[in-house]
Amino acid sequence: MVSTEQIDLSKLPQHIAIIMDGNGRWAKKRILPRLIGHTTGVKTVKKIVEFARKLNVKVLTLYAFSAENWQRPEDEVSGIMKLLKVYLANETDNMINNGIALNVIGDISRMPEELQKDIKNAVEKTKNNKAMILNIALSYGARQEILRACKILIDKGIKNPTEKDFSDSLYTAGLPDPDLLIRTSGEKRISNFLLWQIAYSEIYVTDVLWPDFNEEEFIKAILDYQKRERRFGKIA
Ligand code: FPP
Repeated sequence: MVSTEQIDLSKLPQHIAIIMDGNGRWAKKRILPRLIGHTTGVKTVKKIVEFARKLNVKVLTLYAFSAENWQRPEDEVSGIMKLLKVYLANETDNMINNGIALNVIGDISRMPEELQKDIKNAVEKTKNNKAMILNIALSYGARQEILRACKILIDKGIKNPTEKDFSDSLYTAGLPDPDLLIRTSGEKRISNFLLWQIAYSEIYVTDVLWPDFNEEEFIKAILDYQKRERRFGKIA
């Protein structure tokens, strides 16, 4: 058993990013439709957002829907869109009450128009909150984000950009890079997530499927991170 008290608060990761994988497998194991896996995954999202806030994590980034996920069957895509809509309707007030600012990264122009409005509305309503930034990656791909940043720099006439100019042109402009990247359900890949920003992130992969991920698993990831020596290319 692990507990919150074991966490060294002076070494808490400021920014935690999560690839929430395994909803489909969780459902398959139970002979349930994939969408039930996603619905259960949303419950985990609520739990982990609440817990990260309690721990005082400053930025939490969740990979909810990738640019490539548009290629999934139409009913699964529309089901996830509906879950997002319900999540925003249910959670925006909670975010306000808990000082959470919602930020969405990705090409939301591809999302259903009504959902785009809901997203903009929730972002606007929560924008002055200061305790934690909840970044949700929607219709997000890191290569697409990098290309977009190049275009922004070209449009600005910046011919010799610095790393800072580049970072400032990403969806995550102004945010610290993730200290810790968690991936659930065992796959050891990055899947086009935050390719620029994770240059020095510590990676933690757990076999636990996202619907089964919980506070205890989150603590385990943080404790594992705290055992690591981060050298950023230097020597100790
Ligand atoms: C990965 O599992 C999960 C997704 C592609 C969707 C994640 C979506 C949610 C958790 C719900 C919406 C999110 C929010 C923020 C309300 P998978 O389907 O790839 O699982 P598999 O690899 O086992 O098939």
